[in-house]
Amino acid sequence: MRKNSNNVFQSFSEISVSEALVWAKSFSLEDESLWSFEIELLLSEVTGISRESLYAWPNRVLKSEQRAIFAESVERMKAGEPLAYVIGFCEFWSLKFQVNPSVLIPRPDTELIVEAALALPSSDNEHIEVLDLGTGSGAVGLSLAYEKPLWQITGIDNSSAALAVAAENANALGLHNVRLLERDWYKKIPLPSQSSEGYQIILANPPYLSKDDNHLSGLGLSCEPIHALVSENNGLADLYRIITIAKNLLDLDGWLLLEHGYNQRVAVENFFLESGFVDVKCLRDVAGNARVSMGKNA
Ligand SMILES: C[S@@+](CC[C@H](N)C(=O)[O-])C[C@H]1O[C@@H](n2cnc3c(N)ncnc32)[C@H](O)[C@@H]1O
Repeated sequence: MRKNSNNVFQSFSEISVSEALVWAKSFSLEDESLWSFEIELLLSEVTGISRESLYAWPNRVLKSEQRAIFAESVERMKAGEPLAYVIGFCEFWSLKFQVNPSVLIPRPDTELIVEAALALPSSDNEHIEVLDLGTGSGAVGLSLAYEKPLWQITGIDNSSAALAVAAENANALGLHNVRLLERDWYKKIPLPSQSSEGYQIILANPPYLSKDDNHLSGLGLSCEPIHALVSENNGLADLYRIITIAKNLLDLDGWLLLEHGYNQRVAVENFFLESGFVDVKCLRDVAGNARVSMGKNA
């Protein structure tokens, strides 16, 4: 977190945990309970006091540096910056992922594709080759690498800044079964390093919003990298491109799993079938929305 002393909060000579919470919570705009939760997480991060213990130590006085960081962080959140960028990390698959504005903040919804990959019949095999297209922070690929130390994961992204974040995350998680490559899926994508055969699993959470999608102005998305979010052809261009190239990158009987928008299921399933995939099916998130489609290479 950055520091900035130019803040009205700095005029207090001393401020306690409870006063800091009351001050910051008073700025709540729309979702009061989310704002309140995030302010508690922020103060916990700044002070090193667990969120649960903040209320056990209401009179603990913030050090002047903590006060400065907290005040500036609240200002950034008031301006619409997501908490994850402000504190520099978020949780995904119960793991800690560093993030910065060059990567999409991993969403809980995306855990569905990780779960689906772990439930595939091939997941019982000790060594399989997995390709994570558009790895970003590494959320999907690194979670699989963590769960399955004998799997070999290749993470690809066309953003070198995103790959630098993924590399830091792989390092922090102590993963040695991952290779990260800067490639564009409109150009050549390499086969697995340890064999001339194809991948057994390919996954992607590619950009799939159309450029006029009204979600782009809300949910903090305006702070996130546009090339991670938006795709041509009403959001379908990258999904179609990945289905097309996956045919030649997958082993026979290998699986392709794609996250997509809740209203793209029919288009994605049809394209899977037209491209020669079999056993095509769709998985729904907890809210019942169709969010992951998958098919087997035949
Ligand atoms: C929606 S983000 C997903 C990030 C991460 N997998 C996750 O689920 O949190 C899509 C990612 O695809 C990458 N990307 C977009 N177009 C690409 C292309 N043509 N080739 C390779 N990567 C691309 C972006 O840089 C971004 O990191």
